[in-house]
Amino acid sequence: MPINCNPILTLKNLSARIGRQTILHSVDLEIADGECVAIVGGSGAGKSTLLRCLLGVTRPAQPYAGHMIFDGVETDFTQTTKTTKRPGLAYVPQNPDHGFDPLKRLAWQWRQGARVVVGTSHEAADEDKLVQDLGLRTPDRAFPYEWSRGMQQRLLVAMALLGRPRLLVLDEPTSALDPIIAAQVLETVTTYAKSNGVAILIVTHDLALAVRHASRTAIMSGGKIHEFGETRQLIEDPQTPYGQLLAANRLWCPQGDFIAPSMAAE
Ligand SMILES: Nc1ncnc2c1ncn2[C@@H]1O[C@H](COP(=O)(O)OP(=O)(O)OP(=O)(O)O)[C@@H](O)[C@H]1O
Ligand SMILES: [Mg+2]
Repeated sequence: MPINCNPILTLKNLSARIGRQTILHSVDLEIADGECVAIVGGSGAGKSTLLRCLLGVTRPAQPYAGHMIFDGVETDFTQTTKTTKRPGLAYVPQNPDHGFDPLKRLAWQWRQGARVVVGTSHEAADEDKLVQDLGLRTPDRAFPYEWSRGMQQRLLVAMALLGRPRLLVLDEPTSALDPIIAAQVLETVTTYAKSNGVAILIVTHDLALAVRHASRTAIMSGGKIHEFGETRQLIEDPQTPYGQLLAANRLWCPQGDFIAPSMAAE
């Protein structure tokens, strides 16, 4: 994978806090143009906080150190006090409830999203193809609660891709999906991203998913990135105690078979 290519995102030394508690400790990350990078780590590791900082959100965690360069634009985190929009960066939240207005019909939200990200000149056929590829029908008069959470999450993925972002940030995009739909959605998204030059940053608890799609993976715990490197090497030969713990408890083995953790330890 294009590890030596130009980075679309370089993050150096990012620290952030909520009140007096430091949530992110000097985090570094790099994503090459068109690359898929995964972040894996336990609950409360700071993964969603990291994504929100990259997106320019300053609540509830306030970044206070570090800088990033995204698509040639530099941000100094010591200067960022207000939430700022970052063009070219699209995001799918961990919880679909954070992506939709529960009181507005999906068709309206879909049209609004398309108008904002691609303007009035977009091709309706392209939109229809995108939702169909993700296994959905074009949004109708239904309210969000009338669609399953998996369907809502896929619609959010489609909305995020509509604007052809340079980097698509996915926070546990398969958590509301059954394994078959999850695999199909990820396949569709990564294929679309490859053919349109979109880089992906994906947060997941699923190491198999990281191995399948991400050329590099970051292992995160306690607000720190413990290891960052080529996914396969990192999972087969982790160098840090947390990486070793994570790899030892994976539900996956290199031959592609799925095994229980107790069997993996034998
Ligand atoms: N609104 C908040 N107020 C106070 N602390 C918060 C808030 N949101 C997150 N935190 C704290 O920040 C830390 C990181 O949370 P974050 O949501 O980034 O973790 P995560 O790695 O995304 O976890 P998960 O896998 O469960 O989604 C946690 O210790 C959490 O308790
Ligand atoms: Mg999270």
